[in-house]
Amino acid sequence: MSKFQYTPENEAKFQEYVSRYPKIDSCMLPALWLVQEQEGWVSPEAMVYVAEKLGKTPIQVYEVATFYTMFNLKPIGKYHIELCKTVSCMLCGSRELKQHIKETIGIDAGQTSEDGLFTLSEVECLGACGGAPMFALNGEYHEKLTKEKVDELIKECKNDN
Ligand code: FES
Repeated sequence: MSKFQYTPENEAKFQEYVSRYPKIDSCMLPALWLVQEQEGWVSPEAMVYVAEKLGKTPIQVYEVATFYTMFNLKPIGKYHIELCKTVSCMLCGSRELKQHIKETIGIDAGQTSEDGLFTLSEVECLGACGGAPMFALNGEYHEKLTKEKVDELIKECKNDN
């Protein structure tokens, strides 16, 4: 029995998702997404919970959760920077931005700042290639980024705390 549980609100959402699909298997992604909305990340305990709810083995849930970069497999900072590293963004300067973020916040891809504010992830194409280079900040897209724009965004985040 898993220690993780959906809140009553998320349990109701889960049941609503289940009613939308002919096979409960199809609920794997929304079920994991609900976990992440609730906790900020998908823990091994939560994967076991989702497996129990869907009648799957934990490894089947693990395979899905680890395939998609949108699922955080460890706790993340308050501000999650998902920097696109795919070709268009790479050619337009994503590597330089990554280095700039590293120098500014002190974190590399896959790391969280010591104050718990920022997590930097490198992800594959987010479908905004025309706005390269870009990153998503807590899911909100910021395109045609420059070091100056990155500095502004980081400053805004810090000022909100
Ligand atoms: S290559 Fe970066 S959004 Fe597509």
